[in-house]
Amino acid sequence: MKYDLILLAGGSGERMGLEYNKVLYKIKGKKELYRYSLDFFIKDNDCENIILVSNHIDMEYFWDTILDKKVTITEGGHTRSESVKAGLQLVKADYVLIHDSARPLLYKEDIKTLLDEAVKCGGATLGNRVFNTVSLVDDKCNATEYLDRDHLASIITPQAFYSPMLKACYAKSTDLSFTDDTQVFLLSDRKVKVVYTDNLSIKATKQSDLKLLEALLKWWE
Ligand code: CTP
Ligand code: MG
Repeated sequence: MKYDLILLAGGSGERMGLEYNKVLYKIKGKKELYRYSLDFFIKDNDCENIILVSNHIDMEYFWDTILDKKVTITEGGHTRSESVKAGLQLVKADYVLIHDSARPLLYKEDIKTLLDEAVKCGGATLGNRVFNTVSLVDDKCNATEYLDRDHLASIITPQAFYSPMLKACYAKSTDLSFTDDTQVFLLSDRKVKVVYTDNLSIKATKQSDLKLLEALLKWWE
């Protein structure tokens, strides 16, 4: 099924502590982190348009570096949701996939299942089951309440939506501080399907994630 992609690369990577945007970190000194997702979706013929969202500082770099015709580069905002909202304005296809370019590990079979679910119910996200014990913790680091793992999902990206529905949700929402897009969808009383996958997803957030990704990505292509 044909779809457009919003590829988010417009953060600053504060928690990573580099002096530049973490998605421009070169894995093994060679390939920038965001390129793994970009190349994956450039190769997918069902992906018709890629809208790469950048911050103000990196716009020119992306313009100069990305030459593929199906990629459009646009400027995002201060929060992830503001960046998605900016990207959504350029979406033309009925279905849109939204992906954090800080997550380089992608799998064809997951994309297919995700889109099938979005067609059935309007919105779907990939998710991992939670295998650790999870507890709520108070301000003094005391564990207070244990959660039932059978009803917990760790929400990752890509996420897929029927574009007109997601656009309507964003038009209505005054809050643009979400860490993913299923939250804005649910606010408008929509349903979101969680598509569980056993495939590994790592979001480069801290230095230790980069070390792990460098070790893994050696064998990736
Ligand atoms: N992102 C974005 N626009 C923003 C903030 C984030 O496009 N204003 C993107 C990031 O580039 C990343 C994805 O959203 O690919 C997930 O965000 P996160 O991992 O939080 O990245 P950063 O916001 O860059 O990192 P930090 O929160 O540590 O500053
Ligand atoms: Mg962030």
